[in-house]
Amino acid sequence: DTSLEANVLIKVEITGKVALLTLNRSQALNALSSELMHELIAKMQQLEANPDIGCFVITGNSRVFCAGADIKEMQIKSCQQMIAEDYFSGWDQFAAIKIPKIAAVSGYALGGGCELAMMCDVIYAGDSAVFAQPEINLGVIPGIGGTQRLTHSVGKAKAMDLILTGRHMSAAEAEQGGLVARVFSDETLLEEALFAAQSISEKGRLSVALAKEAIDASMELPLAQGLVFERRVFHSLFSCREQQEGMAAFIEKRRADFSHD
Ligand code: CAA
Repeated sequence: DTSLEANVLIKVEITGKVALLTLNRSQALNALSSELMHELIAKMQQLEANPDIGCFVITGNSRVFCAGADIKEMQIKSCQQMIAEDYFSGWDQFAAIKIPKIAAVSGYALGGGCELAMMCDVIYAGDSAVFAQPEINLGVIPGIGGTQRLTHSVGKAKAMDLILTGRHMSAAEAEQGGLVARVFSDETLLEEALFAAQSISEKGRLSVALAKEAIDASMELPLAQGLVFERRVFHSLFSCREQQEGMAAFIEKRRADFSHD
């Protein structure tokens, strides 16, 4: 029903164990209104509860991934309202989703759009992708993690340059700087993202979740503590069927089947 689809801010398509989420607010260049945020998070939490879903792919359209937080929604707010609502704190629930999230970015990923991509675990870009944190031009600063996650990804020099000037960064520069994992042609981007998501979703659910947790911990922990955390997680996997199946499959020269874990 196309009339129904027109009212949906997030389109969901499931293929195998992969859920593709498409931002569907193109008239506002997929700006992140509170309504869109609630719909996206609610749909993802519902899908996360389903053991048959192993990976998310989040995408926009060929022209724009997402043009950022909704400036029209924010413009009228006071400082008191922003603090009372703890505006943007809802996005913490998006970042906390345990199932891996891949952002497939074509076109603009600006402000909150770049931050949305950075809250995903992997960013793949089409060659038309443009990343920026242009909040400085609006008299504000990034508010959904840009000053922190961008700095972790590309280092202080580039983060300062990008955030203080608000300039655009190409897909090639973003890959070189370490923000983007891989760049594809725009035509093959979604196919490649879905292929990677399918591959992830066929691994053991627990080992994927724990690998992700250990990598995320590297952003928070000193090296010595991170290494202990990694080793203990590694040890703990020896109490799980995934390890038994994975290693038995190697010895028996067959493909591991993690579908029963
Ligand atoms: N919020 C609300 N509406 C937006 C929007 C946004 N972030 N970005 C675009 N739109 C709306 C425009 O207002 C316009 O609506 P109308 O038709 O009602 O006028 C419609 O989308 C189309 O946009 P444009 O006419 O501007 O399209 P364009 O092709 O000329 O320009 C663009 C495209 C360069 C992406 C330009 O729209 C733009 O610069 N957008 C804003 C980018 C931005 O500043 N993002 C940061 C937002 S703040 C933020 O994200 C804070 C944070 O840290 C979370």
